[in-house]
Amino acid sequence: MILQDLLDIKEEIYLVEPGYYSQKTIVTTISYLVDIQDVVGDYNFRTIRITDGTKTTGLAIFNEKTEEVPVDFWSIFTSSIANQSTGEFGSLADSILSTNQPERVVEVAGDVMHEALIEYYSLLLVNRETCNECTMPLESYERAYAKDRLDRLSELLEKLAQNGISIDGDVLEICCGNGMSTIALHELGIDPTTIEYEKCTVCQGLAHGVLDPKKTLVMDATMLSNFFEQGRFDCVVGFMLGTIYEFNKDLWARMMFESAKVAKDGALMLFTVNGRSEMDILESALHMVGIEGEVMDNTDEFGIYDQWVFIGRKGKK
Ligand SMILES: C[S@@+](CC[C@H](N)C(=O)[O-])C[C@H]1O[C@@H](n2cnc3c(N)ncnc32)[C@H](O)[C@@H]1O
Repeated sequence: MILQDLLDIKEEIYLVEPGYYSQKTIVTTISYLVDIQDVVGDYNFRTIRITDGTKTTGLAIFNEKTEEVPVDFWSIFTSSIANQSTGEFGSLADSILSTNQPERVVEVAGDVMHEALIEYYSLLLVNRETCNECTMPLESYERAYAKDRLDRLSELLEKLAQNGISIDGDVLEICCGNGMSTIALHELGIDPTTIEYEKCTVCQGLAHGVLDPKKTLVMDATMLSNFFEQGRFDCVVGFMLGTIYEFNKDLWARMMFESAKVAKDGALMLFTVNGRSEMDILESALHMVGIEGEVMDNTDEFGIYDQWVFIGRKGKK
């Protein structure tokens, strides 16, 4: 695991925040640190300080095995995603570390820490440690990934590339499902950040090694700008979005609004759907957020996959 390697920790590690989402607010982290600070003078903890080169961005505290928890482990507290190191987190962490001098100081750049945290939560999910009650079997690869679908998407992407529409740079794929469409991107040498809100679907994609644990987030696409910097991505894509109806069109409009927000000016915006009426809704939502583009008819006799394609750009390059 990247986080263990970065911190050079052989024992288990444990983050008190249950998911990537809650790393944004670190409510549980702060509450633990307040409790630890209250008893910090009474015990001697082994600690590690994590810094980004200037300030404290994390703290590891060693927990010796007990009857209840029969393994030694390190609790890791970090503000890397919340980016609060100069606020409450920083003062609590520094105060704990001043009483319990760190045995080591580890410098980790923000983006490296970020990737390590994403991987930590992916591994927690795929090892089913977040869902103790899970009885969902792992689908076979052949069942989960339809070759005809993959071929169809690959053909579409090749056709677009031949017409000068290439997906490259820092790519975000929204609504990635189990990574079926991500395979087509990987085959073109594209390594996107992938997000999807159904955690069981993500779990299947991780278990099959299709989704990259370092780049996959269980996340609602209506909240992209809460987690990604505005104007970050060179390209935002989403395949077989839907199902999109009149009654849920506001949700999809929100996803398009958020996609536009995290896209750079000039970014390629590429989305496919099954039905023409779905594309009409998507297209009007995209226009409303300033994405100009065109709709390509990609229908075939089967009428299933990637029938309608929106190809657009955010603003002008
Ligand atoms: C038809 S599947 C397509 C999956 C994949 N892109 C593909 O082409 O195989 C649509 C996916 O969008 C996901 N989805 C729908 N609403 C979402 C949201 N608000 N945030 C993230 N994912 C969402 C669904 O869970 C589902 O996995």
